[in-house]
Amino acid sequence: MTRKAALTTVVFTSLACARHAPIAPPTVADYSYANPSQVVMTHMDLDIDVDFDRRVIAGTATFDLDHKTSANVVHFDTWALRILEVTADGKKARWTLGDSLPLIGRPLSVAVTPETHRVAVRYETIADASGSGAQWLTPAQTAGKAYPYVYTQSQSIHARSWVPCQDTPSIRFTYSARVRVPSELMAVMSARNDRVKSEDGVYQFEMKQSLPSYLLALAVGDIEYRPIGPRSGVYAEPGVVEAAVSEFADLERMIDTAESLMGPYRWEQYDVLVLPPSFPYGGMENPRLTFATPVLLAGDRSLVSVITHELSHSWSGNLVTNATWNDFWLNEGFTTYFERRLDEVLYGKEYTDMQVMLGKRDLDFEFAEKGAGNKDTALYVELAGRDPDEVMGSTPYEKGYFFLLMLEESFGREPFDAFLRRYFDTHAFRTMTTERFVALMKQDLFANDEARYVSLQVDEWIYQPGLPSNAPVPHSTRFDQIDTQLAAFVKGTPARQLATRGWTANEWQRFLDNLPQPLPAARLQDLDATFHLSRANAVVQRSWFPNVIAARYQPAYPALENFLMTIGRRYLVRPVYQKLAQTPDGMEFARRVYAEARPGYHSLTANGIDPLLGWSEATGTTTP
Ligand code: BES
Ligand code: ZN
Repeated sequence: MTRKAALTTVVFTSLACARHAPIAPPTVADYSYANPSQVVMTHMDLDIDVDFDRRVIAGTATFDLDHKTSANVVHFDTWALRILEVTADGKKARWTLGDSLPLIGRPLSVAVTPETHRVAVRYETIADASGSGAQWLTPAQTAGKAYPYVYTQSQSIHARSWVPCQDTPSIRFTYSARVRVPSELMAVMSARNDRVKSEDGVYQFEMKQSLPSYLLALAVGDIEYRPIGPRSGVYAEPGVVEAAVSEFADLERMIDTAESLMGPYRWEQYDVLVLPPSFPYGGMENPRLTFATPVLLAGDRSLVSVITHELSHSWSGNLVTNATWNDFWLNEGFTTYFERRLDEVLYGKEYTDMQVMLGKRDLDFEFAEKGAGNKDTALYVELAGRDPDEVMGSTPYEKGYFFLLMLEESFGREPFDAFLRRYFDTHAFRTMTTERFVALMKQDLFANDEARYVSLQVDEWIYQPGLPSNAPVPHSTRFDQIDTQLAAFVKGTPARQLATRGWTANEWQRFLDNLPQPLPAARLQDLDATFHLSRANAVVQRSWFPNVIAARYQPAYPALENFLMTIGRRYLVRPVYQKLAQTPDGMEFARRVYAEARPGYHSLTANGIDPLLGWSEATGTTTP
């Protein structure tokens, strides 16, 4: 042992009081064992192998520490990780892996001194662990059917399932990574990417802008890059990359438009990765590299609002981040508002009004489901340990949108935009709580005009359930036209006589969502034969199949089954299962298909459907 090492040991044991004094277990705050007021990670260097044979990610994560106090232990979050070795400044460190809590996982507690600069953790993931944010796909689950694929979904609290870290949105850090993959595959991350396939399967990444752990992201597969503009492009499997280029041709213009509204884009590059269809979300705002469902490739750019949404997160969320998951509306409400401001400039008011109406429908549905007075329909919510991925519905998005729209209409667009610009400029690369936002809004936007604050019912909007009486009422003239066609069809007009020219996924949703149920089989047959709805884009299918189910229209059941077997986006499949679960025969069909489909779903999607069908993970069966 060198002199220095001996000294370190002495200092360490004296701090720990006894040579092998147990490391005190941490407490949990906002789903994390980390204690941001004591020791935080400021940089992570990741060196990992992605092993498709074992379905394991293995390697070392090295953390630079910033000591805020003289605490003698640093806590990291882990979920289903095997910890192999921990060093502190190059020397073997004393560490423990604490007991597991549901949702939260196990704390990795490492003994340090205030002088410890760097902690390195050698680890590997546990294959097929339940609740993992990493999904491993077989070749059959990809577009090309030839190569396997793996991708991560870290939000809300799943980064810890593929890399040990301080998994709380209140801690920001920079990162670099070296990722080794099979040489025929390509790796991409939420960082600076090389954009070209490497010969040896080794990829280097650098993320110079700080981010919270939920924005850590990795995908590995048969992926290609195509540029769109000087700072934008798409990644996708070779078979879909051209479709992605044409669907997302507006990327560069989107960034320019966003900058004129929200200030400079501070992440240099903005690319979109199109994932295989099991991806559980429409989009995920991983910095520099939005992850997106292939369902967006509708062919007519009608679903690009998901991209204007994810791009907007480059300000609301990624630049100014919700400090806790209770403050989630600060991420999603602002983003939904900006999404629609961008849509208005890029795609017009008619398109945007349709988006707003569809969002409002989701919100009404959720309010009806949760019941009046439900605390989860406030903007600020007390999650109190519940699964954040399960509690978060449309409320933070759509109610958040209406709140900000109400403010915009009250103060006028220009002053409101100026306020938002100041907000992002002042708080860039920081976190924000609801309470602090309210305080600075009062002072800045309201110029301390308490009477105005009260008359706009701001506290009701933020802290009370439901929609306050001054909520804006959306309207869409385009949907009025759709409703005219709907009424004609309901009165008996045959499908081919309906004026459906130019209808996109938005118009079809309006029409199909409002059909009377159950329709006679002949009428469904007429619709399907005329418009091929069973083979439509998955967003349209989501609105079509509930009609099929209500009428027990058997000819469309093979398409329904295929939809459930291939699409993994939770928002699309969950309502269809929900509809099926309403009748005994529907439930029987749902359970049979689910038993087959579930292994192909990401656990985030499965978690939302299990309770609907009474599925028990322990037995792998449903209990009626
Ligand atoms: N950040 C969210 C996705 C998310 C939320 C993942 C909560 C995990 C927990 C993303 O920006 C999002 O809102 N996606 C929506 C897009 C839509 C609202 C335009 C989606 O996937 O449906
Ligand atoms: Zn979002």
